[in-house]
Amino acid sequence: MFDQIEKIQAEIEAFQVDSKESLEQFKREFVGAKNKIKDLFKGIKEVENERKKEFGQKVNDLKNLAESKFAELNNSFEQQANTDAASGIDLTRPGQPIELGSRHPITLVQNQIINIFNRIGYNISEGPEIEDDWHNFTALNLPEDHPARDMQDTYFLETDPDMVLRTHTSSVQVRVMENEKPPIRTISPGRVYRNEAISARSHCQFHQVEGLYIDKDVSFADLKQTLYFFVQELFGEGTKIRFRPSYFPFTEPSAEMDISCPFCKGDGCNICKKTGWVEIGGCGMVDPAVLTNAKIDPEEYSGFAFGMGVERITMLKYQVNDIRLFFENDVRFLKQFNSVL
Ligand code: PHE
Repeated sequence: MFDQIEKIQAEIEAFQVDSKESLEQFKREFVGAKNKIKDLFKGIKEVENERKKEFGQKVNDLKNLAESKFAELNNSFEQQANTDAASGIDLTRPGQPIELGSRHPITLVQNQIINIFNRIGYNISEGPEIEDDWHNFTALNLPEDHPARDMQDTYFLETDPDMVLRTHTSSVQVRVMENEKPPIRTISPGRVYRNEAISARSHCQFHQVEGLYIDKDVSFADLKQTLYFFVQELFGEGTKIRFRPSYFPFTEPSAEMDISCPFCKGDGCNICKKTGWVEIGGCGMVDPAVLTNAKIDPEEYSGFAFGMGVERITMLKYQVNDIRLFFENDVRFLKQFNSVL
């Protein structure tokens, strides 16, 4: 019986309480109505007479030990609960939501443009931003010393003068023409670089989406209809388009495309400089020399190409008046596009 006392004492001393549940368990085992120590008291019958007193005392001590340990634990739990309440911590309150970022406006508009062309069967092609002379210039009918090379101020790589930062994503289209057989219907979105002074209107890096369509009997009417559909989708129904004759070495004939001003609907305002029209990009029929360079027979195939600046379109769509805002990444600016698709 004396062993029993020691065993229960060891149990009490070793008992770890780390939750309300384990405190309840302690209470049940050692201080509650049917606890183990009470059973020990009953065992006194079996102890020989001369040791009964000693036994009774030891069991009593054990009872006191259990009760004081329980009181102490109970106390510290209550205190914990009180300090939580007093410090205003409500442990049941849900956490703060994590604030999500938003997509960059250029990405948003680029995605809108991509979606529209996807719906009429265009796939997406990508290529390197550090490009060789052939894909950026020569294959596009801009041989060395061609004056039109000056149309786009180019960054050359110091280590290799044959390599440039691409000045347009037309370079990607050359790669597609070299690697795929017509019919080709593709758009190439991406970042391009030009050595231009940075101002509210122009930047040394920006984004383009260029398109290319090559098949049998493709005509300028197809080009017009495609771009007409595109601007109705992007700027809304009723947007008018107009083509002005222009020059690009890789297209013939070439044109600059304007749309009726999305703000004044053609009446004339500050955005369109009172003309009622704003320019959104260049286009034209792919020059047969470019098809030949890419080993596509110009007798069999014809095609059109177009290119537009994503910053310019975003500025028009959301009335942003300084292109530099797109690269400064001030979250107060970027957040305003949270709700845009
Ligand atoms: N590559 C031209 C530019 O960067 C745009 C363009 C593309 C023009 C295709 C005509 C045809 O300005």
